[in-house]
Amino acid sequence: MTKFAVLKNVQPQPELVRENIKKDPGFGLYFTDHMAHVRYTLDDGWHAHEVKPYGPLVLDPAAAVFHYAQEIFEGMKVYRHADGSVWTFRPERNAARINKSAERLALPQISESDFIESIKALVSLDQQWVPTPESEADESSLYLRPFMIATERFLGVRSSHEVDYYVIASPAGPYFSGGIKPVSIWLSQNFNRAGAGGTGFAKCGGNYAGSLAAQNEAAAQGCQQVLFTDAAENKYVDELGGMNLMLVTKDGRLLTPELGDSILDGVTRRSLLDLAPQLGLQPEERKISVDEWREGAANGNIVEAFACGTAAVVTPIGRVIGSEFTIDHGEEPGEKTMEFRKTLLDIQYGRAEDKNNWMVRL
Ligand code: COI
Repeated sequence: MTKFAVLKNVQPQPELVRENIKKDPGFGLYFTDHMAHVRYTLDDGWHAHEVKPYGPLVLDPAAAVFHYAQEIFEGMKVYRHADGSVWTFRPERNAARINKSAERLALPQISESDFIESIKALVSLDQQWVPTPESEADESSLYLRPFMIATERFLGVRSSHEVDYYVIASPAGPYFSGGIKPVSIWLSQNFNRAGAGGTGFAKCGGNYAGSLAAQNEAAAQGCQQVLFTDAAENKYVDELGGMNLMLVTKDGRLLTPELGDSILDGVTRRSLLDLAPQLGLQPEERKISVDEWREGAANGNIVEAFACGTAAVVTPIGRVIGSEFTIDHGEEPGEKTMEFRKTLLDIQYGRAEDKNNWMVRL
């Protein structure tokens, strides 16, 4: 029995509207009919679990989240399989990560069961919003956005005694429009994303707010994403504005920056590292300097680069533009990049055996 009380939306969006949205949802533009919510207070802990109609929140203008950005979130997807059933991917990893983020942002821990139940309760009401993929290249899904905000009305700087947790859902197509075309990356010149002891590893809104000026710089240079280097030396690659980075070497290694204070422990990142041996690659998590990448791409030792994340899935990188150099990986997606993409999507959409038991039926 679920703890989540259900208050059904008596005015759901019409079926025709929903079906049209699912045909071409874009990313993060449309939302389903319901949202899950759990309230936290210092005295009562987590309580009042509910699923209710999706709609605006009424918050006090003095709520802590507006002033001190005490906020964290997650990104997950729901996939429809050929038999109509709906599944999500490694949700226990998102539950663990939201609690790591909560610890860093001084927000309360939420139990794995409340986290997973909130998703199940929402998806069971909004099942019809999960798109059906039309082909193997189609990556449409229902994107879930669990988030936690500090809602106490209080302007002193301390951790909030009142917190609200929500899950909203949005039918989603590819994060980058224009098909599976290699994207261009701008190497941030003026901004860093995270430093030692900071919040870089946490999935908190502040990290993304801090990336926007650099992301705008990238867009002004005609690039789709920004790449940050380490704050201490500006020497090693960290991560992209909203996704992790991976490189493939000619001698069969899959390189990615090692976890630390500044790298998000991406579920897609982890899964690709786990899948690497079956694709004939040796995973290697370590520091990677921009120079190593630049020289490797020039002398043929680094043959492919891609971005990965829940929203980005596996997106090939064609070019990296720095102030004094360009790294060129060509106009076409790399072979291993596309193999990773297919292997992962086949598991997620139930087209390949889920040997690792990553999929959870909702
Ligand atoms: C995700 O991949 O789920 C994220 O939260 C990243 C964001 C760029 C959408």
